[in-house]
Formats: sequence, C-alpha cells, structure tokens
Amino acid sequence: MSLSTLDIDLYESEDPIWNPAMMAIPVPGIRKMVNMAASMQDVIHLSIGQPDLPAPENVVNATIEALRAGQTGYTMDAGLPELLESLAVYYSGRSQRKLTADNIMITTGATEAIYLALTAVSAPGRHFIVPDPAFMLYAPMIRMNGGEITEITTRAEKNHQLDPQEVIDAIQPNTHAIVLNSPSNPTGTVYPRETIEAILQEAAYRGIQVISDEVYDHLIYDGKEYPSALSCGTDMDNLMVVSSFSKTYSMAGMRIGWIIASQAAIKRLRRYHMFTTTVANTPCQWAGVAALHGSNDFIQNMLVEYTKRRDRLVELVEQTPHLTGYKPEGAFYLFPALPEGVNGTNVALRLLKETGVCTIPGETFGNSCSNAIRLSYSTSLGNIERAFERIIPWMEKQDFG
Ligand SMILES: Cc1ncc(COP(=O)(O)O)c(C=O)c1O
Repeated sequence: MSLSTLDIDLYESEDPIWNPAMMAIPVPGIRKMVNMAASMQDVIHLSIGQPDLPAPENVVNATIEALRAGQTGYTMDAGLPELLESLAVYYSGRSQRKLTADNIMITTGATEAIYLALTAVSAPGRHFIVPDPAFMLYAPMIRMNGGEITEITTRAEKNHQLDPQEVIDAIQPNTHAIVLNSPSNPTGTVYPRETIEAILQEAAYRGIQVISDEVYDHLIYDGKEYPSALSCGTDMDNLMVVSSFSKTYSMAGMRIGWIIASQAAIKRLRRYHMFTTTVANTPCQWAGVAALHGSNDFIQNMLVEYTKRRDRLVELVEQTPHLTGYKPEGAFYLFPALPEGVNGTNVALRLLKETGVCTIPGETFGNSCSNAIRLSYSTSLGNIERAFERIIPWMEKQDFG
C-alpha cells in the first residue's frame, strides 16, 4: 500500500465510526518522512527527536533490579512514592520553591502529561494561546476538545524568540491557557526569564493557566542557567509544568514523565489519569529514582557532545545557500528558514529523494513556517558533516526565485 493511501485510510476517511474530533489530528509529517526514508538506501537522518546516546548504566541496572525484585505490579495512582519524593526534593532545590509529593503526578511520558493538562482544560468556546512553530501535539489536543487557538508566530531572524507582549495582547476574555515550550521543539530556542515572568504574571492576574513543557530543561548550552517557569515567582494556582526523563537520560522508550501543579490540580488530574493509563510503568519509575540519585556525568558529557554538534551545524547552515539560521541555545534542533514563499515540504521531500538526507518539513510544527525545515543534531558529527556534503551542493543548484 502506498503511503498516501495509508494516510487517507487513517486520517481522512469519512467512515462514520470515527469521532469527527479525530480530524483534528494531522497526518504526522515526521512519520511520513521517516517511513519514506525507511524504503531508501544510504539515508542520513537529521530527523531524530530523541537522544542518540545509550541510557546511563545505573538507569538500565535499576530497571533490571526492579524487575528481578518483582516490581511488576501497579504503583499508587499518582506514581511510585519514592519517585514522587525524589522529584519533590530535586525540583524544590532547583526552583527554590517548596514542592511536595502532592504537587506531582507521574505519567506515561511527558506526552500523557500534556494530554491530561490540555484535554482537561480545553472545551468548546475556550481560547488558547500557542507559539507557532511548536511541538505538534498541543494544537490538535486543544482542537479535538473544541478549543480555539491563537498562534503567536516566531521567526528565524529573531532566533525564534517569543515576544511576551504579543502573547499578552492575544489574551481574550475566554482565554483559558497559554502553552509554553522552552527549550522549544522545533526551534531549540530558550526563553529568557523576563519572557516567562511577564507571561506568568499576566496569566496569574487574569486567572489563566500556563502549561509549560520543559522536557529539554537539561539541554541548555553555553553554561546558561535554565529559567524554568517553576523558578519564576508566581504561585502554583495558574501553572502546570510538564517534563520527563526521555531527553535528559535518554529514556524516551521507558515512558516516564510527570506533571507538577497545585495540589488541587494534581488531585483532579489523578482521577483523569486513572481513567487514561491507570499508572506509569513501574520498573521504569524505579529507573527514574536511580537517574535522579545518580551522578551528573551523563548530562555533562551529553552537553559537551551536543554543544560541538550544535556549533558545527550552525556553521554549516551559515554556509548553505538559501537557509537562514541562528544559534539555538537548547534542545537538539535548528529550524532554519528558506526564502519566503518556498515550500519547505517540497524541499524536504526533494532533499530526501535526491540527496538521501532526511529532515522534517516546517509545516509539521504549525501554520506560519511552511518555508522552514527542522534539522536535528541528535546524530554524530560525522553524519552532520556528511549530510551537508550533500545538502550544500544541492542547495547551490536551486533557484528559488
Ligand atoms: C517538546 C516536547 N514535549 C514532549 C515530548 C514528548 O516527551 P515524552 O517522550 O516524555 O512523552 C517531546 C518529544 O519529542 C517534545 O519534543
């Protein structure tokens, strides 16, 4: 079956069995590219959305030990008490804010946390503010539940920084939540403390939730301090922070994430979680305890390696005709722009077919960026070099005028 037929079967069928809300879920651009690449030879992936390093040894060992110790049953609904306690201590220290286990709930990856937070708040007639480009889950989850969205556009020429005033000006009487993601997927942009503080203050004043996705909070380069929404002085009543072990400890497949919120919000979300996934994976929650209590070397080594890759990728993008880059300060993505009006999806498809380099079309991440492509540097320096040995001559031949 061709890929296009498959997409139509899954997403565009008028088969009455499906809830029309399913139409809010777009054809995933990432899957499409990766599926196509899978049928080709000698592909270099700049498409990868997870760390390419093996998980730390102590994390792997803790999972095996938990299994051997018979830790294969359900945990408490909010999560393994040892993990909740460890996260409370860890976040209280990091954010200079007193958090207890009752402020936290363990989920099946950050994805479940985002799903619970957004779908628990979204409803017909409610308005949300989401940056554009942004991680592709947010808008569909809001829209599936009837919510409407104002997208706040960011641009490569301005390092994809979010203008807090634009966010504040977009607030309407029916605005229920603002979604933030720093460092951002797909841009790698880290919002400065002032941006987050300005948005949080206004949101608290107006009684609006801020849902802050912080899964890349340890992938911050150049020795910068990370401004988590948790460390920006407002109270917890208007804040939900989502994160996971997926990126920080290369544990994406182990599916352990969490949500941090007011005790009242956690209480309500616990019931929803019970009706969604029941509890998160038990042995992998023990792995999470080991990760938090283990040495920091894994993260430090990852930062050294990813900084080298980021720096080289920035140089290579600068040398590439038609691409406007910038220097991302976090995560492992760069989201360069092609000239205005150029179709990034066509460019990504042709790049894959004609050079064997797999990138992700910008339109996967929102409506404002159809002239962009996402490049991931979660791959070796050698692969990055080889990819650009193909991309640069290809771009030199293009006439996008
Ligand atoms: C911004 C962002 N949030 C959440 C997730 C999902 O994380 P998890 O694997 O913990 O579900 C990802 C994964 O790519 C992401 O990029």
